[in-house]
Amino acid sequence: MIFRKFPLFVFILPLLATLNAAGQEQDTLKAVRGAEHSLYADANEQNCLRCHGKLVYSIADTVTGQSRKELMAEHNFVSPDAYYNSVHWSFSCLDCHSEGFRKFPHAIETRFETGWSCLDCHGYDPTYAKYKFEEIDAEYQKSIHYTATEGAFTCWQCHDAHYYRPLARETGSQRDNIFKSNEMCLHCHGNPDIMGLVTEKELTMVLPRHEWLPDPDRHLAAVRCIDCHTRMSDSVLVAHEVMSADSAVNSCVDCHSQNSILMGTLYKYSAKESRDQEGFINGVIFSNDSYVIGANRSKFISLTGMLVILLVLVFAGAHTIFRIIIRPVKKYYE
Ligand code: HEC
Ligand code: HEC
Ligand code: HEC
Ligand code: HEC
Ligand code: HEC
Ligand code: HEC
Ligand code: HEC
Repeated sequence: MIFRKFPLFVFILPLLATLNAAGQEQDTLKAVRGAEHSLYADANEQNCLRCHGKLVYSIADTVTGQSRKELMAEHNFVSPDAYYNSVHWSFSCLDCHSEGFRKFPHAIETRFETGWSCLDCHGYDPTYAKYKFEEIDAEYQKSIHYTATEGAFTCWQCHDAHYYRPLARETGSQRDNIFKSNEMCLHCHGNPDIMGLVTEKELTMVLPRHEWLPDPDRHLAAVRCIDCHTRMSDSVLVAHEVMSADSAVNSCVDCHSQNSILMGTLYKYSAKESRDQEGFINGVIFSNDSYVIGANRSKFISLTGMLVILLVLVFAGAHTIFRIIIRPVKKYYE
């Protein structure tokens, strides 16, 4: 009887239950990382992190039994927290570094061993198909970083070996994603020493070249460097062909217009997600924290519009339900 009166609930309740379950499943997937789940946490601590995981570490002279404290140089420090929350959290340090590093001081030959490339492990592996590593690699090989540095540049120059997480997919806040993505570039383009590792050229200051933008600081906090500096790509989520500066986006309307390039770059992931989850294309307009003049409508007006539609629906729903409840029972046999 109740089902005949409220058939809607029959559909809505299981739907809500599955949505809820799906949400929980996602949370547990992410929660799996962490030192407490790693098979190698103890070994890593013993072999490497007792020195590299600390800013002050101890060395001992096994012959005399003396020990003393030393400072770990910042660039050789590996934060255990960030490491165990990165994509390669489950690894032993020795999966990527050779056994030779178990000896201290580390021998000279350990430093000349060629390491793995991303493609060695991820290329042509269906498990990681969604990232399209092969296509990223092809785009990267056309980038100025690859062509201008004769092999000194690798994927690791941008992707921190110990801390990387796919930001666009995993970072809740768009601002955070932008900040960390840009840090990958400024880490080098803002630091002559790091730059010196890959080129003999003088480092030029990046900011003055962006003063054609009104309020450059604000723009550089609201879009990623790669949104202007890479060739747009239909096939991968994050385009990787960094072009020479004279091909960069330099026109305001590329972003500040109805078909803003940002929908195919910065907002690509959230646009796709909101299409999948919420079923409407411009869902990203409500969830991202930027207001791009010309590209999205006023948040206030959009929200008011939504509210009006919602109220109409609520009213119509209530009306229907009450019609069903208070429906006069027809007396057929009178
Ligand atoms: C006793 C402390 C100590 C332990 C244990 C230790 N290291 Fe080191 N490691 C250092 C210090 C200090 C440096 C910087 C001086 C140097 O380069 O030799 C260093 C440098 C390095 C470097 C940089 C080499 C380069 O070419 O710049 C790597 C890579 C490294 N260690 C990896 C490891 C790994 C992997 C382990 C574990 C298997 C490990 N280390 C264990 C103290 C340690
Ligand atoms: C997924 C592979 C991978 C794992 C796992 C890994 N490393 Fe590394 N590590 C690298 C690569 C690649 C480099 C060189 C980075 C570069 O060229 O910029 C590196 C560099 C280093 C350096 C030199 C400083 C630096 O950051 O460039 C140290 C020290 C180091 N690793 C320690 C460790 C320790 C300790 C662990 C375990 C907690 C570990 N690594 C786990 C790939 C790895
Ligand atoms: C030595 C092999 C190896 C190398 C080198 C390597 N990876 Fe991985 N990577 C793995 C494995 C194995 C996992 C799965 C780890 C886990 O969750 O236990 C993984 C996970 C990932 C993930 C998360 C995949 C997912 O959906 O869970 C990303 C993204 C990733 N790696 C990117 C990279 C990038 C970028 C590079 C190069 C800068 C790289 N990897 C280098 C082996 C490797
Ligand atoms: C010039 C810097 C740079 C270089 C070099 C680089 N990347 Fe990236 N990569 C980025 C930035 C920036 C992002 C965006 C941050 C994010 O969403 O994780 C990214 C994102 C990614 C992602 C995540 C894409 C997704 O679908 O979520 C993968 C995988 C990746 N890069 C692999 C590679 C591989 C493989 C190489 C080498 C062939 C490489 N990258 C070289 C800067 C670089
Ligand atoms: C490890 C250092 C390093 C990192 C990280 C890095 N770059 Fe570069 N970049 C270089 C070097 C070196 C060159 C110069 C190549 C040349 O012209 O010799 C360059 C060139 C460029 C150019 C071309 C400049 C011109 O004069 O035409 C652009 C644009 C650029 N990088 C953007 C980026 C962006 C965007 C990122 C982050 C996604 C990034 N870079 C990350 C080192 C780096
Ligand atoms: C709004 C688009 C836009 C954004 C965002 C942007 N750039 Fe640029 N960038 C340009 C343009 C256009 C030029 C060329 C300016 C010129 O010709 O004077 C340029 C120039 C450069 C150059 C060449 C500098 C030189 O002296 O040759 C580098 C390197 C660079 N940008 C890196 C970056 C980095 C790193 C970021 C992120 C922090 C970034 N850009 C963000 C558009 C952008
Ligand atoms: C790569 C895309 C991109 C390009 C190119 C671009 N903008 Fe923007 N612009 C943005 C985004 C994203 C914001 C939102 C900033 C925020 O929310 O803080 C913005 C914000 C603004 C604002 C509002 C800032 C404020 O203080 O309220 C103005 C004005 C503006 N842009 C003008 C311009 C002009 C003029 C140009 C060309 C010279 C330009 N933009 C080029 C992406 C872009």
